[in-house]
Amino acid sequence: MPENQAGTMSSGPMLFYTETLIDHFTNPRNVGELAEDACNGYACIGDPGCGDELKLWLRVDQGVIADIRFKSYGCPAAIATSSMLCSLVSGKTIPAALAIHDDDVVQALGGVSENKQHCSLLGIKALRQALLDWSRRMEALE
Ligand code: FES
Repeated sequence: MPENQAGTMSSGPMLFYTETLIDHFTNPRNVGELAEDACNGYACIGDPGCGDELKLWLRVDQGVIADIRFKSYGCPAAIATSSMLCSLVSGKTIPAALAIHDDDVVQALGGVSENKQHCSLLGIKALRQALLDWSRRMEALE
């Protein structure tokens, strides 16, 4: 049975995806990557538990996340949460972006099945690592 359908199978976990989550999975925002000269922060994060991977590129301009893109090799929840994360942090200052947690991403999607909530951590981890990368690059320029 597809993951996004409610059903009555007798075994295995039941997954229920909200309409917002399905929308971000089927029509993900900010998919792609930034060219080397348009990017000043990058991260590649993997979830050893399931083998999924997320690559995140961002460009900080005057203290604001001016552009952010991702590519994900992951489950529908990983793709939808990455897409929502990009929507939430796009145009935000660094402190405002760092104040966003995986719970905010889950809430913005209208909820994520409990056994899929670890997927929302990928985006947050990648964002923090990409901002750390940005910070190191800025320090190297000083
Ligand atoms: Fe791997 Fe969702 S199952 S990130």
